[in-house]
Amino acid sequence: MAGRLEGKIALITGGASGIGAAHVTRFAEEGAKVISGDIQDDLGATVVEEVCAAGGEAIYTHLDVTDEAIWAAAIQLATDTFGGLTTLVNNAGIYHPGGVEEETREGWERMIAINQTGPWLGMKAALPALKACGNGAVVNISSLFGIIGSPGSLSYHATKGAVRLISKSAALEFVGEGVRVNSVHPGQIETPIIGDLTPEADAAIKAAIPMNRMGRPEDIANGSLYLCSDEAAYVTGTELVIDGGWSAY
Ligand SMILES: NC(=O)c1ccc[n+]([C@@H]2O[C@H](COP(=O)([O-])OP(=O)(O)OC[C@H]3O[C@@H](n4cnc5c(N)ncnc54)[C@H](O)[C@@H]3O)[C@@H](O)[C@H]2O)c1
Repeated sequence: MAGRLEGKIALITGGASGIGAAHVTRFAEEGAKVISGDIQDDLGATVVEEVCAAGGEAIYTHLDVTDEAIWAAAIQLATDTFGGLTTLVNNAGIYHPGGVEEETREGWERMIAINQTGPWLGMKAALPALKACGNGAVVNISSLFGIIGSPGSLSYHATKGAVRLISKSAALEFVGEGVRVNSVHPGQIETPIIGDLTPEADAAIKAAIPMNRMGRPEDIANGSLYLCSDEAAYVTGTELVIDGGWSAY
């Protein structure tokens, strides 16, 4: 355990898979006590078991980010189990394609509920505990698609752009109260959310990325780790793009 997050108590959403699971693992490796929340309970529990077997401290709880009552219970669990909360990573998210004409009202509202309302409810529920600890940090996982547009993913762009700006607004709201808020913007990362790509699509994505590979979940967790550590004590309201150089063109 390297200890860059020693003393931190971190609630991580979407901790069962992909980028969230990498956060659970990396944060625990660096000494944080972790509460992992997700709706995929078996997978989430397995990730936590592996972390504990490796010497980390983590628990899993069922957490649907759209449910305000469950958020309150998760914060209470952190307090009851570990004595408080210092850190929140709003990572849970979904993706489905759909342009202006293809997206349905139902699809739009589901995307907003999970990707946008979820992080807001998380901050709302966690902020009393984060303020109380005197040195709180929030990372909201947005996307490169929260900064630039692309055709055919309208509601995803809407939610990720919103996450970028609610992060900056919350950062300014709580700057005097000991809570930092930042957003992280992954490029294309190898996780289940991107689905099964054809070899052609896979090659086209890699060709567009200067580093010529997709990112790994750990690449994103390492960025959040910095932002949640005291190394980032002077960093709030910023956006960290982790995309292999994709947006540098
Ligand atoms: N993989 C990428 O290329 C990429 C790029 C940019 C941003 N992101 C963002 O990273 C985050 C993590 O995605 P990932 O790539 O690890 O995908 P993933 O599908 O592997 O993980 C997403 C997790 O969120 C959980 N989740 C979904 N709905 C939930 C809900 N209502 N409540 C709680 N948990 C819920 C899922 O069960 C899953 O475990 C998402 O916000 C995603 O938009 C991913």
